[in-house]
Amino acid sequence: MLIWYPRRLPQSTMKNGIKLDTIICGDCLDVLHQYPNNCIDLIVTSPPYADRRKNTYGGIHPDKYVGWFMPRIEDFRRVLKPTGTFILNIKERVYNGERHTYVIDLILEMRKRGWLWTEEFIWHKKNCYPGKWPNRFRDAWERCLQFNKTKKVNMYQKAVMVPVGDWAKTRLRNLSETDLRRDESRAMSGFGKNVSNWLGRNRVYPTNVLHMATTCTNKNHSATFPVELPSWFIKLFTLPGDVVLDPFVGSGTTAIAAKSLGRFYIGIDTKAEFCEMARKALADDMEALNFYG
Ligand SMILES: C[S@@+](CC[C@H](N)C(=O)[O-])C[C@H]1O[C@@H](n2cnc3c(N)ncnc32)[C@H](O)[C@@H]1O
Repeated sequence: MLIWYPRRLPQSTMKNGIKLDTIICGDCLDVLHQYPNNCIDLIVTSPPYADRRKNTYGGIHPDKYVGWFMPRIEDFRRVLKPTGTFILNIKERVYNGERHTYVIDLILEMRKRGWLWTEEFIWHKKNCYPGKWPNRFRDAWERCLQFNKTKKVNMYQKAVMVPVGDWAKTRLRNLSETDLRRDESRAMSGFGKNVSNWLGRNRVYPTNVLHMATTCTNKNHSATFPVELPSWFIKLFTLPGDVVLDPFVGSGTTAIAAKSLGRFYIGIDTKAEFCEMARKALADDMEALNFYG
């Protein structure tokens, strides 16, 4: 029997004077000016590319990228809570036959202005097909840079544990004497391992390399990331009820990830058509949850 449920559109909510679960059309620079300090738990975003898809996404010349981005990043810092995290998915493009340094320049400038560059995750696009140019191979990874305001950051590491994997069956079968005690890294990194600690465990912590396919649900926006990418960071850095901001929300991927994980979202995009696309995707997603949930 087919059961009909009424179409439930996402409802905005007010919390501490700010509107949540909302997609706002505008330049994030102007929109964020209206938000109070320290109100966001996590920012996850993939910004407009440097000088690519200029007509569609308003790309910026690589030499001007840092100057364009910094006033916006200053506001990201202001609205982010001291315990919050900013994840920036970015990859430097090739310009005049070599990699441009705008990502490196951006990191250095952000550090000068007080950001901590805590970590760099690599998103390995595991379904990329091979290819080449005369002097390089095809890109199959992007950076996900982690920035913080302080060293005391909310991080829920257990939320992203992974299955231990088949390797453990053979590796743990016969333990050597060294495996039974903490073995310090010979590279003096401060890391050490006691292999016997893995006995009887079926889940372990992941590394900072995220193997995710590039499959994206929205075919009408050509610069989307897969929903698994923001979802992973949302689980790692927030709890249900926390607030997630994507200041360059595009087709709404981060907002969908946040909503389906029980977090609040704020999404901003300059293009009215992308805002509409994001709102529709959120509504469709809610409808699917309504139907199957
Ligand atoms: C790389 S795309 C983001 C795609 C998104 N992650 C997704 O999965 O759909 C960057 C987006 O930033 C938007 N954009 C460019 N300049 C902006 C600005 N100043 N403020 C807000 N959005 C902007 C573009 O319209 C584009 O949709």
